[in-house]
Amino acid sequence: MINHQSLATRRSGFLMIRKSVSASAPGKIILSGEHFVVHGSYSVAAAINKRVLVKASDTEGKSRIVSENEASNLSTDDGNFRAIKSVARTIISRYDSEEKARFELSVASEIPPGSGLGSSAAVAVATAAALSGYLGLSLSKKEISEIAFEGEKSVHGNPSGLDNQACLYGGLVLFKKGNEVERISLTSPFHLLVVYSGKKRSTGKLVRRVGEKRERFPNYFLRLATSASGISFEVAKYCKSGDLEKLGSLFTTSQAQLSWIGVSTEFIDDLIESVCESDEVFGAKITGAGGGGSIIAAVKRGYEDVVLCRVSKRFPVSFVTEIPQEGLRWEKNQMS
Ligand code: PMV
Repeated sequence: MINHQSLATRRSGFLMIRKSVSASAPGKIILSGEHFVVHGSYSVAAAINKRVLVKASDTEGKSRIVSENEASNLSTDDGNFRAIKSVARTIISRYDSEEKARFELSVASEIPPGSGLGSSAAVAVATAAALSGYLGLSLSKKEISEIAFEGEKSVHGNPSGLDNQACLYGGLVLFKKGNEVERISLTSPFHLLVVYSGKKRSTGKLVRRVGEKRERFPNYFLRLATSASGISFEVAKYCKSGDLEKLGSLFTTSQAQLSWIGVSTEFIDDLIESVCESDEVFGAKITGAGGGGSIIAAVKRGYEDVVLCRVSKRFPVSFVTEIPQEGLRWEKNQMS
């Protein structure tokens, strides 16, 4: 249900009615199959408990985007807000042919950009929903997903579409390029530890580097890609039953594959080793494109906060997440 809200603001003694629509979407983690998913493998991803909120509202000036730290006009190509601008331009070109609409898109995010936690996908999904709602369009989830995918392309070049599906639908999803996502229900819900290394990186560059590796080693790559699909089916199975020990050991196998395709770094290897020092940690891996970014770890039930407390001393952007079932959400305005 679209939540149209009118904000009453006082300007020059007149009471102005400001129309606005807000939507939010969660970030995501990838549990298996990242990179190989670009080449046709199955992958498993899940929503996290950190969200991006986008509010579309009236403006008297040019259409623009604002966040806590930056502002930029929609028509300016200054490299800022690429995903949001691409989504907004796609919506305008498809649905508002005369380009009459004037709006401000305000963004508030709990997800560090470039961390591999789905910041650009979440922002693209929330923007597509908030802006289409603001323009009075009632788009299906499939249409929102397609538009968000355009935003992802403008940032990452050749994405698989996994990120925007995970952020849109929430929960745990099994994904293969070109197929409908399959939502996996969890019979014994669990938590995972997420640690941001603090090292930003470019997904597009890493995806290109893996593409080069595939060209040099086509047969070996194919075998790894097939095995990545197998790992994804197992990951889906053990997530469903909540078997964290098995999940942890699959994370370790998956990490070895990601290392071979060249997306781990010494820093990330050391981080994984130090997280796995505790007996309560069953295994850890990169989540997302790698090259820095974030890792996830499967931790024995009941010990998540103990491990978090130890890890956050060196890596302050660490948290424990459940797998929230909710993806895209229409919001009451919070940023007026
Ligand atoms: O958005 P990131 O950095 O978490 O990585 C996306 C996952 C990749 O498999 C590397 C790329 C893709 O489009 O699936």
